[in-house]
Amino acid sequence: MIRYRDYRKDQATRDKYADVELRASDFIYPYFVVEGTGVKSEISSMPGIYRFSIDMLVEDVKEVYKLGVDKVLLFGVINDDLKDERGTQAYSEDALVCRAVKALKKAVPQVLVFTDVCLCEYTNHGHCGLLKDNDVDNDATLPLLAEMAYVHAKAGADFVAPSAMMDGQIEALDKKLRETGLRDKCKIMAYSAKYASAYYGPFRDAADSAPSFGDRRTYQMDYRTHDQGLGEIAADIAEGADWTMVKPAMPYLDIIARGVEKFPDTPMVAYQVSGEYSMIKSAAKMGYLDEKRIVFESLIAIKRAGAKYIISYYAKEYMQKWA
Ligand code: PBG
Ligand code: ZN
Repeated sequence: MIRYRDYRKDQATRDKYADVELRASDFIYPYFVVEGTGVKSEISSMPGIYRFSIDMLVEDVKEVYKLGVDKVLLFGVINDDLKDERGTQAYSEDALVCRAVKALKKAVPQVLVFTDVCLCEYTNHGHCGLLKDNDVDNDATLPLLAEMAYVHAKAGADFVAPSAMMDGQIEALDKKLRETGLRDKCKIMAYSAKYASAYYGPFRDAADSAPSFGDRRTYQMDYRTHDQGLGEIAADIAEGADWTMVKPAMPYLDIIARGVEKFPDTPMVAYQVSGEYSMIKSAAKMGYLDEKRIVFESLIAIKRAGAKYIISYYAKEYMQKWA
């Protein structure tokens, strides 16, 4: 008989043998940015998460940095009347996200700023790229994503994070950043294995980015596949990704673990997405689950699978209340 219970006999002993840990620097905290001043409005399907105008964003990031979280991911949310077929506001020099990046880099330069690169928040059809015959036009979208990454990098973004799931998008960004001399300053965090998931529901609310017709299954991955996610990760690394990502996190721990095993030299990021957050929040509110314990267990599971960083809407609350 092996006496495994010797490892568990009291808290001090359990602590001694625990080899998975969660630190403030593991977190990347997502933000939704809007125009205006003094805006901080809660997202109804994501209690505790807000849309911020740039001035309020800066204040919140200062708070979060004091808690030890030093990485943030920005999503721009613009008015419907500014959206068009080509997502022009996404890659304009004066884009909302560019102004947010500049403000953050001035006020809290120690914080690494990541920016989402995708057209769905900026197109009037809500798809992640240009359209042709009611589907995305993959290759015509690439230069626009590259331009978007370029304006973000020029504004001072430390990482650009392309999430459109267009084939060749990492290569297009890498090439553009090299040509413009920004590649050394700005890294690429690739949304590599991004599945066509119902867990993004609350986000589309928050970012007002639901497609106006159809769905995203012609470009986001089909989750009924064993190995395609690993192929996507391999392709992104070959195209020049600095970091890679699996998204969502908890239902895809197998992909995270296999990705880390197969590509040990590329940092793996896991995105605990809006639906994962909202499920825990609502169950906790109903009293069905102990929120603190569930959040800790979920985040540890993601780390144990091998993720180096976790994008989580819980980052601030966790550091504030439970760390
Ligand atoms: C946009 C984007 C989405 C998310 C991140 N970037 C939504 C989508 O693809 O539908 C999801 C994030 C979340 O649910 O928290 N390309
Ligand atoms: Zn998109």
